[in-house]
Amino acid sequence: MMTAKHLYIKTYGCQMNVYDSGRMADILQPLGYELTETPEGADLVILNTCHIREKAEEKVYSDLGRIRPFKNDKMILAVAGCVGQAEGAEIMRRAPYVDIVLGPQTYHRLPEMIARAERGRDKRKGPGRGVLEVDFPVESKFDHLPEERYERGSTAYVAIQEGCDKFCTFCVVPYTRGAEYSRPVQSIYDEVARLTLGGVKEITLLGQNVNAYHGRAAGGQTGEWGLGKLMAHLATLTGLTRIRYMTSHPRDMDEELMAAHRDIPAVMPFLHLPVQSGSDRILDAMNRKHTRGHYLEIIEKLRQYRGDIALSSDFIVGFPGETERDFEDTLDLIRDVQYAQAYSFKYSPRHGTPGALMDKQVPEDIKTERLAVLQDLLNMQQQAFNAACVGQTLPVLLDRKGKKEGQYLGKTPYLQSVYVEAPASVFGRLVDVKIEKASANSLTGPIVKVEAFLQ
Ligand code: SAH
Ligand code: SF4
Ligand code: F3S
Repeated sequence: MMTAKHLYIKTYGCQMNVYDSGRMADILQPLGYELTETPEGADLVILNTCHIREKAEEKVYSDLGRIRPFKNDKMILAVAGCVGQAEGAEIMRRAPYVDIVLGPQTYHRLPEMIARAERGRDKRKGPGRGVLEVDFPVESKFDHLPEERYERGSTAYVAIQEGCDKFCTFCVVPYTRGAEYSRPVQSIYDEVARLTLGGVKEITLLGQNVNAYHGRAAGGQTGEWGLGKLMAHLATLTGLTRIRYMTSHPRDMDEELMAAHRDIPAVMPFLHLPVQSGSDRILDAMNRKHTRGHYLEIIEKLRQYRGDIALSSDFIVGFPGETERDFEDTLDLIRDVQYAQAYSFKYSPRHGTPGALMDKQVPEDIKTERLAVLQDLLNMQQQAFNAACVGQTLPVLLDRKGKKEGQYLGKTPYLQSVYVEAPASVFGRLVDVKIEKASANSLTGPIVKVEAFLQ
């Protein structure tokens, strides 16, 4: 029998990284690696990193410094993800005790990299001899991933699209994730079918530009399907009651996708549609290739199709050249849309992106001020959205355990977190909760109904 080896994975960044970490664990399980909670004493440590803003990147180097004291002859230390892709050689130089650096497109080759690192470790004399795999291979990793080995619970992520060809002038993703790629419909369908058989009731379809999805058609049809059609196909799977998707780009919100929110009951009434800025001048400088007007038209149409749809967005404040007037335009757009939730960031100049070289960089203190004003407004809207749910009965999928005994957490269709006190038998089930209290970040109330077991 194989003795168990311990694998510690730390995940930074977006949901795609969370999905990738799960798949790395799946790949390594047949080699005898079992997941563990701490890096101390682990045989293999993987940092699955994010490069999106400077802070995310710095975190990796400080965590490497923290792990270094535990690093012994037995431990293999790997840096995966977007920092690995962007800074491979630099990591090897700054942290020569790292054994493997790999990018997001090569993790299906991990077993081979580990074997090489193990062989090399004995011979390795100095720095710079580690394993570096940051190319964009011609084969797709999706064709080389094993079936899922670990249980996913009642909710799961499924990557359906990866990469980005849009080149917003602030963003590193096109460089770290490479060109757009869509998985064939059948391969996604098979993965979701396995997940639902294992008890998954809700899936979130992932992609850097998930609504640019155009995968090879299934069922003997020729051509490609878009995201709307893919979701209609997945919705036929028994047991799958909720479908979400992220992250979308305004330019790819086509009619079929918008209509899916009206026509497919499993498609949740929630959309994360980043706009970044409410000023046409700044949208142009960001190379977003859409206007404020176009974004607002999409929102209006979605609300016609699905009156209760909840909206979310990402915002960047302090992009180069952003004036007080541009910033006001962003606040104005937010007041116009009324968001259920949103993420907002200070612009972080990234090496190798056009934005970093632009004139009129905005001073840090102005960015800080603008972010505070913007977040106040967004928080108020989130609070108002949550407060409006008090008195309603909402379906909640209880997929997480709370910190306290007997406490369970789940999401409403609108992606709000709900806490309930309940017996353990509700875990993983869809329940109706009568919302009695709302705060900025969560809702709570008694369970009034538990779903019947699905056949
Ligand atoms: N593909 C998605 C978002 C990917 S990155 C889209 O097109 O919207 C997630 C978010 O991080 C972005 O929406 C943006 O708001 C933020 N972001 C990306 N690069 C950034 C930078 N250099 N500085 C600050 N925020 C950034
Ligand atoms: Fe980045 Fe823009 Fe691509 Fe989104 S669409 S990943 S923000 S370049
Ligand atoms: Fe970060 Fe890469 Fe995701 S840069 S946000 S982990 S695509």
